[in-house]
Amino acid sequence: MCSRGLEDSLVDELYTFDGVESIRKNKSGANFNASPEIICRLNLWARIPSRILIQLGKTQINNADELLIFANKINWGEWFTPSNSFRVDVNITGKLPRSMSANFVALKFKDGMCDRFRADFNGKRPTVNTKNPEIRIWIHFFNSLVTASIDTSGEPLFKRGWRQNKGIAPIKENLVSALLGMTNWDMSKPLMDPMCGSGTFVIEAMQKFTQLPCNYTPSRIRKFAFENFSPGSPFNNTNWKVLLQEAHDRWEDKNKIIKNIPLVIGSDSNIKMLEVAKLNAWHALPNKISKSIVWKVNDFLNYNASEKKISSSGILVTNPPFGFRIKLSENEKKIFIEKLGTVLKKNFSGWTVWILTNEKRFSSIIHLRNGEKFPVFNGDIACNWLSFEMVTGNMKNNYEI
Ligand SMILES: C[S@@+](CC[C@H](N)C(=O)[O-])C[C@H]1O[C@@H](n2cnc3c(N)ncnc32)[C@H](O)[C@@H]1O
Repeated sequence: MCSRGLEDSLVDELYTFDGVESIRKNKSGANFNASPEIICRLNLWARIPSRILIQLGKTQINNADELLIFANKINWGEWFTPSNSFRVDVNITGKLPRSMSANFVALKFKDGMCDRFRADFNGKRPTVNTKNPEIRIWIHFFNSLVTASIDTSGEPLFKRGWRQNKGIAPIKENLVSALLGMTNWDMSKPLMDPMCGSGTFVIEAMQKFTQLPCNYTPSRIRKFAFENFSPGSPFNNTNWKVLLQEAHDRWEDKNKIIKNIPLVIGSDSNIKMLEVAKLNAWHALPNKISKSIVWKVNDFLNYNASEKKISSSGILVTNPPFGFRIKLSENEKKIFIEKLGTVLKKNFSGWTVWILTNEKRFSSIIHLRNGEKFPVFNGDIACNWLSFEMVTGNMKNNYEI
């Protein structure tokens, strides 16, 4: 599973893993075949997915009885036991069969699962825990075609574990990872987020391009749902300790090898946010890499034009403070975007600027012609990831649209 709009990035990433086969893109995700060991590896290292599910059954359902039979047919005891807690989540695409609702489906399916447990475990069944379940089951309806899957991740994978404090409007780590991939930044040029908030772009960039495992940090080793699977599950033969050690070794290596660390800058007008970002970076990155990040308190709209130019070229990435959880009036937003345009034109010629925005008229307000345009979703908000080449010299045509 992944956020809407990231399916191509997900597929591209899956192709980089050995042992991931028969990859097929679908809506908000991709299907593939892989061994339990590769699934554990993906949970530790893949940056784009939100969750990794294993499909346990698929059938056509026309009524509640058929749903009950479907739930009853799956050998749940192979995966978990009555001593585990669980919850059932339902996803719907298209129309559910008549007289069914998402709640009804979840309840009915749970009943079918419990019947099977009682039959297999002398009347015992696992308890439901909707808040903090050890096991999560996903039911996906595509009209009357239903699939049942078990979640191997547990907490969504964008919760990397390094975020100690979220800030006002953080952006999901896996979205940022995909957005950075779209910029084709190869570490040869500086990278800057001038409105960095809790530091997600800066931290993800450093992790991604130094090839650190995204879901392993020594200061908080997160748990995955597959660790709760029963000893008889297909995951039993996977040596999780070895996989964790591999991730730890990479972390240690990156702490020693400090050559060619690119210039990465995070700045924000809010000093408290910058403190949050620094703390997050300290948890997310080996010491030497985290220390190499340049953090600055700076009101970007009043960027000091007389300041020495950072570099003749670079990548500027950001999601400005409007449209998401931070509300600005239409006029305030317009003024903000215009000022942003002035600062970029004056001080960042030679740079490529990437902006995540849900403002449809962004390019015309900022008076810049965008190059690339990737439609993505930030949570439920439809946005565009827009690129602007800031040209050197007097190329008026590029600026005025
Ligand atoms: C949508 S948030 C960015 C969230 C960020 N990407 C993260 O990972 O948490 C926008 C940020 O812009 C900052 N900001 C607002 N006006 C600014 C300005 N004039 N100069 C610099 N930063 C500004 C806010 O303090 C806020 O942290």
